Amino acid sequence: MRMVDIIAKKRDGKHLSKEEIHFVIDGYTNGQIPDYQMSAFLMAVFFQGMSSNETAKLTMAMVKSGDQIDLSGIEGVKVDKHSTGGVGDTTTLILAPLVSALGIPVAKMSGRGLGHTGGTIDKLEAVQGFHVEISEQQFIELVNQNKIAVVGQSGNLTPADKKIYSLRDVTATVNSIPLIASSIMSKKIAAGADAIVLDVKVGAGAFMKQLDDARELANAMVEIGNQVGRKTLAVISNMEQPLGYAVGNALEVKEAIETLQGKGPADLHELCLVLGSKMVVLAGKANSEEEARTMLEEVIANGKALQVFKQFLSAQGGDPSVVDDVTKLPQATYQIPVNSTESGYISGIVADEIGVAAMLLGAGRATKESEIDLSVGIVLHKKIGDAVEAGESIATIYSNTEEVDDVINRIMKAYDYSKDKPSPMPLIYNL
Ligand code: URA
Repeated sequence: MRMVDIIAKKRDGKHLSKEEIHFVIDGYTNGQIPDYQMSAFLMAVFFQGMSSNETAKLTMAMVKSGDQIDLSGIEGVKVDKHSTGGVGDTTTLILAPLVSALGIPVAKMSGRGLGHTGGTIDKLEAVQGFHVEISEQQFIELVNQNKIAVVGQSGNLTPADKKIYSLRDVTATVNSIPLIASSIMSKKIAAGADAIVLDVKVGAGAFMKQLDDARELANAMVEIGNQVGRKTLAVISNMEQPLGYAVGNALEVKEAIETLQGKGPADLHELCLVLGSKMVVLAGKANSEEEARTMLEEVIANGKALQVFKQFLSAQGGDPSVVDDVTKLPQATYQIPVNSTESGYISGIVADEIGVAAMLLGAGRATKESEIDLSVGIVLHKKIGDAVEAGESIATIYSNTEEVDDVINRIMKAYDYSKDKPSPMPLIYNL
């Protein structure tokens, strides 16, 4: 087999066989295929696309390029959830204890992220003592015992994806549905999921800006999952504005606790119930999403989900008393209000701008080496559709410096106003 022939075949819009796809992925991962040939191949995929069958084969070739986590020692269906990323997305912190409270094993492998705020692990580390440095054996024991554990990314998962993603980044080939879908799904499958619930975000603050693109990505990922024997469901959710009110690590933990207490922001609460219901159905604990939703509402109302969260924190060295006293979370020195200069209604909040403002405060990493400040961030007071008077506070900045002019300007620029109340936007879109 020759790489040049495979490039030409894809360039001409033909279908690649399993052997050809493996040749490309294995050869590129082990260094036999050079960057220039892989770049040409990726561009051919970008223009010609891939069938769902080819995309599933590409996904499995990337899964097999490295280690795969074996969760077979854990009883029950291991359902994972993945979000394509947004601003203020605290759903994992809520969903994990929520579905675990129904006896569903949550064996989550999470990362520290680059971006507006930290990843799930950074957020959890806002709880004093909490750590994810546990062996694979301990991880499996904890899940069997408590039905929930989170471990940091370890081992050599999907090295092909890491190498290909870096090349896509510099060859203008990131935005290709088969490449994105296989990249995301390969990581979930290598991490051992039996079933997967996907939250594909759409809007100004999301990777997918258009609904049609989000639908295409969601359907491509569902097809991959189902073709490779992992039951997969997807939700498309709105990211025209940040989810919930808090953007920042400790601030999001506080919001997650409030949501587990049934006192969270309406959009975050609803999205967790929608995603959670699908997870419960995939785990085989309910026959319908309606039944699953009632079960989830019950464990929020009777305090069981919150209890599971406390037990989970404690099992991994964290101080569970933060749940009853959130002032034990890292606190920023200054709280600086951002006031509206206009009266009317909020008609838009550019989620990305709020995310970048939080990152400027230190809530997220600009590079892998950056240190995160877990205490800082932004809490919005007004969301789309809310009435506002000039001089009223639209947000509070939590900061460890008083020099936040840049952050204030970004937040103010992120907000749009209208004279009339805008019509409500859906939180969830049909697939
Ligand atoms: N996220 C991923 O993990 N991969 C992509 O290709 C795009 C977003």
